[in-house]
Amino acid sequence: MFSQLQPVATDPILGLMAAYKEDPNPLKVDLGVGVYKDEQGHTAVLDCVKKAEKLRLEQEDSKTYIGMAGDLSFNRHIEQLAFGPHKVLLEGRVTTAHTPGGTGALRVAAEFIKKANPDATIWVTSPTWANHISLFQAAGLKVKEYSYYDYSTKGLNEEAMFADLATIPAGDVVLVHACCHNPSGMDLNEAQWQKFTAIAKERGFTPLVDMAYQGFGLGLDVDAAGLRLLANEVPELILCTSCSKNFGLYRERIGAVSIMVAQASVTETARTNLLAVVRSIYSMPPAHGAIIVSHILDSAELTAQWHQELAVMRNRINDYRQLIIDKLAGEGVKQDFSFITKQHGMFSFLGINKEQIEQLRKDYSIYMVGSSRVSIAGLNHSNIDYFAKAMAAVLK
Ligand code: LMR
Repeated sequence: MFSQLQPVATDPILGLMAAYKEDPNPLKVDLGVGVYKDEQGHTAVLDCVKKAEKLRLEQEDSKTYIGMAGDLSFNRHIEQLAFGPHKVLLEGRVTTAHTPGGTGALRVAAEFIKKANPDATIWVTSPTWANHISLFQAAGLKVKEYSYYDYSTKGLNEEAMFADLATIPAGDVVLVHACCHNPSGMDLNEAQWQKFTAIAKERGFTPLVDMAYQGFGLGLDVDAAGLRLLANEVPELILCTSCSKNFGLYRERIGAVSIMVAQASVTETARTNLLAVVRSIYSMPPAHGAIIVSHILDSAELTAQWHQELAVMRNRINDYRQLIIDKLAGEGVKQDFSFITKQHGMFSFLGINKEQIEQLRKDYSIYMVGSSRVSIAGLNHSNIDYFAKAMAAVLK
């Protein structure tokens, strides 16, 4: 039976991570996978996480199952972090399950959508995180794209986006990135969120908000402003969150899926359907990451420390946005890269072509995704000059 299988192409992002690891060039630069690195090029465990893990070791007295919805205290914390002190929480219109990572949240969301409407099409931004499309298709959903990024202006393709959204019918789902758009770094501004919300309300489609980078853009609350606006106005939505980036808990695989329903009387039905999905895929999520996050958010002291550590990561990335522009100009690059400071979060689209990306990889061991997406945190004071010189050489 297995001999019938055909080889599958390596995932474009994770394949790059493996290729970088194997590259013997001591000057190699990893701008591929969306993982934060500090000035030393290291993905360190946050201090608040270390303290919370210690607490867990001291306090945990059982390894029994935690149930299909996972850690209930974590779920409450994540709802508050995402929605803030929002009426939808007070009204009891949100139900949450903690999941194995943000990817797990998206997969559970996809199965939940299929239960609610087997004919639903899910619309994703063009472009989007490469795994969105395969993940939703693997769950049996139809996937279509709506206009989002304009490669020529290096900004949002606003007119085309709103025109596309205005054709999407009720019963379909529209995925929108809450902040730090992956891969382009181009986010909706306040006016655009308002327009998006008005169209969602008028057309009646269901927004699926993917918030994998809360706190990496402009701050925890600002990054969730679009979600909160939508929650004010539309009757239903789905939210997928991740603690991979903002808590640095990548390998612990901790995320959450939240379903917001129109009336509190429907919450219990949504909850039981959500848990039925979870039970049929992995039964119950792993506990470790959720307990760490709960310990941090239960403690005012650890929460303050987390805010500070998150700000350090966010500010370092934002500082490098300007530094990239300055260094490229310093190397005599004439092209305009000022758009980099208009983008938010872990990523920037450099807008260079496939040959240039390939040359950077072949001649300089500089790794970035084939769309020219760079993970800015891969740059530091030891490699930024090397990067700028290499860019200048390939742009000539
Ligand atoms: C990324 O986009 O690089 C990250 O979200 C990691 C992944 O799983 O692709």
